[in-house]
Amino acid sequence: VNRQATCSAPVNIAVIKYWGKRDEKLILPTNSSLSATLDQADLKTTTSVALSSEFDSDRLWLNGKEESITNPRLQNVLQKIRSLASERAQTDEEKAVLDAHVHIVSVNNFPTAAGLASSASGYACMVYTLAQVYGVTDYELSKIARVGSGSACRSMYGGWVAWNMGTRDDGDDSFAEQTHLADHWPGMKILILVVSDRKKGTSSTSGMGTSVRTSELLQHRITEVVPKRMAAIKEAIEARDFAQFGEITMRDSNQFHAVCLDTYPPIFYMNDTSKAVVQMVTQYNTMKGEVKAAYTFDAGPNAVIYAMEDAMAEIASLTSHFFPSTTPDTFFRGTTTAPPAP
Ligand code: DP6
Repeated sequence: VNRQATCSAPVNIAVIKYWGKRDEKLILPTNSSLSATLDQADLKTTTSVALSSEFDSDRLWLNGKEESITNPRLQNVLQKIRSLASERAQTDEEKAVLDAHVHIVSVNNFPTAAGLASSASGYACMVYTLAQVYGVTDYELSKIARVGSGSACRSMYGGWVAWNMGTRDDGDDSFAEQTHLADHWPGMKILILVVSDRKKGTSSTSGMGTSVRTSELLQHRITEVVPKRMAAIKEAIEARDFAQFGEITMRDSNQFHAVCLDTYPPIFYMNDTSKAVVQMVTQYNTMKGEVKAAYTFDAGPNAVIYAMEDAMAEIASLTSHFFPSTTPDTFFRGTTTAPPAP
């Protein structure tokens, strides 16, 4: 047999942050999260998978360099896809597919591991492309992307996406779901300020593990804060209420970084430039008398700003004045609906 497919999947930017696992192998989170997926034309991963009976082993290339295929998360993803294919196999061709090997080639159009969510688009794309090749697209694929990297499950859909944490031990109810189409809120823009494109110090995986073990603030966040915020931010998006949306987004980013500081030993992701961006956005909102722009930071120093088109034009000129060394890129939020386009 010979089969192949190429797909791409964009990065997503969380406004309610995922931070903490209740099961590290199945990647089950301690709280739900919500994000917007960027457009296919913006930051994305493109993956090609070739499957052939002539290959003697599975192989993987990331950004032009061959990498070990033995990565446990990658193996979990491959195993899950193959077991679904084996359940579905009926014809001789479909059975031959089970004995064939894959070559996976994956390329990002942005710096890897700089806190720009490369694992999210990377695993989302790999799972989707493998599913095409193995013919298992009828399954809820965000559950498989989740096993590669938690945040990846949200990149399986476009627009506004919630990852509902679920309660089951087997993870069957922990998957992503689109809450609103991208075009539900016309004019929404996302600005990514690349403060540093160096690889981050503490990976999210190890950082969130230490937070779960040591931070009391994280426990409060999980039980008291996030459930209310998930409901409130969905309402704000539904009503296209930027002031509400923006305040929740900034507070959630702040709390996530406070949890990092409450982790022992502490973790710092934001640097002085990140903090100056927070002050700039805060002053901008004060000057406007209303929240017109919202910052959010993931596990790295890069700033992401959400704003409506008119405010974003002003924010963009302010950033190029005050932060000339950052590389700004403005994106329209994703216009895709699930699944990622081939
Ligand atoms: C801060 O999804 O990278 O970006 O599940 O261990 O692969 P693993 O972690 P990952 O964590 C992302 C954390 C975050 C917040 C978010 O995207 O929700």
